[in-house]
Amino acid sequence: MSKSRVKYICSSCGYESLRWLGKCPSCESWNSFTEELVEEKKSGKKKYSGDFSISKLISESIQKEERIKTNIAEFDRVLGGGLMPGSVVLIGGDPGIGKSTLVMQAASKINTDVLYVTGEESINQINIRAKRLKVVNEKISVMTETDLDIILSAIEKHTPEVVIIDSIQTTYKKDFDNAPGTITQIRECTSELMQLAKKKHCAILIVGHVTKEGTIAGPKVLEHIVDTVLQFEGERSYSYRILRAQKNRFGSTNEIGIFEMHDDGLHEVLNPSEIFLSEREKEISGSVITSSMEGTRPILLEVQALVTPSAYGNPQRVATGFDYRRLSILLAVLEKRADLRLSVQNVFVNIAGGIRIDEPAVDLAVCCAIASNFSGKIAKNDAVVIGEVGLGGEVRSVSNIEKRIQEAAKLGFKKIIIPANNLKSLKKKENINIIPINDVNSALKEILV
Ligand SMILES: Nc1ncnc2c1ncn2[C@@H]1O[C@H](COP(=O)(O)OP(=O)(O)OP(=O)(O)O)[C@@H](O)[C@H]1O
Ligand SMILES: [Mg+2]
Repeated sequence: MSKSRVKYICSSCGYESLRWLGKCPSCESWNSFTEELVEEKKSGKKKYSGDFSISKLISESIQKEERIKTNIAEFDRVLGGGLMPGSVVLIGGDPGIGKSTLVMQAASKINTDVLYVTGEESINQINIRAKRLKVVNEKISVMTETDLDIILSAIEKHTPEVVIIDSIQTTYKKDFDNAPGTITQIRECTSELMQLAKKKHCAILIVGHVTKEGTIAGPKVLEHIVDTVLQFEGERSYSYRILRAQKNRFGSTNEIGIFEMHDDGLHEVLNPSEIFLSEREKEISGSVITSSMEGTRPILLEVQALVTPSAYGNPQRVATGFDYRRLSILLAVLEKRADLRLSVQNVFVNIAGGIRIDEPAVDLAVCCAIASNFSGKIAKNDAVVIGEVGLGGEVRSVSNIEKRIQEAAKLGFKKIIIPANNLKSLKKKENINIIPINDVNSALKEILV
């Protein structure tokens, strides 16, 4: 016999409590507990006496893994080469960012049977979207359904190789009294889909919503269940969208896919450096070009800085697309090692194009941009700056230096400032003047005119 009782579950991490809590003790998010009915099963003491199967690990005789290509190069790269049969991929993202557009465009290019299940739009609305996105693929079957049991039986019967569920928040299982979108429903529906994916050897793409308030369960709790978690992100005011892998059981999590949203859907951005630099104002202080590795790809980006005297006691520091704490450290380094009085200045740093960088290799470019705007001197606009800055003001070596230099040379830059320690690892000669430096001060002397 099982009985139901009310529990409070954190919508961001799934922590359970018998009473309501304002702050989750596990993930520390506020106001995230929702009331849910949870079935409690009595644990039986009877031992299992049935049969089971165990097999040997035989890696040599396994056939080469066959991936299902979405035929969207940016998407396939983030997935690690395509969709793995028998796996579940979760795509999360803010409302309206373009999740449904991305999965529909992927469905249109997949060369195998696809079942597109939607609980959010009617058949008519889907057709209107498909027409706008110019989707013509005989192999796509569409189903508007939210009942999981019906969806599962459709998958069992039609055996598509790829299933798209848009979205997991609208899917529900009748056995549970909880409303669709609650943690229990999301968790149960996903694990049943996962089991079916393994059994039928089909790939399932699940769309999940993220809400900041946590009123509807976000896909955080699903991250442990599924094989791959992709995040589709972008700034509302920009048309660029970035697809990033947060977890991938079958590929690297370093790769990103860059898209641009147009009227007729998402377009792949195959030359991101050119696009991110296209709107650059050349004769302006506080602008420096750097190179960041996004997975295996180098991308040239513009770092912008604005330094203004602070009218109040507490100067502001704002970083967009760059780590705020890293900015504070770099400001302290500039103050102490380069003798720049920045403690009474407001400092704003922005990575142009709405992209976010978590790489220390852009440190030196951030320092140069701040120093350039503070001193009013323009940074040489034909130069690229790369290097990690240490607390002593020293410039440390970075990874993939050859690829970064190649990209800078390809885009017509004349000079590249690199950490001196990276010099010995250079083998190929590019058509660019390489300037090795050891510390922040020599970089500033080199770049500011
Ligand atoms: N008719 C249109 N013309 C141009 N762009 C459009 C049009 N309709 C939608 N879009 C673009 O597509 C975006 C919405 O895409 P989509 O519906 O795929 O997002 P989503 O992430 O699935 O949203 P939701 O969270 O609501 O499901 C809009 O923000 C807009 O940029
Ligand atoms: Mg949608």
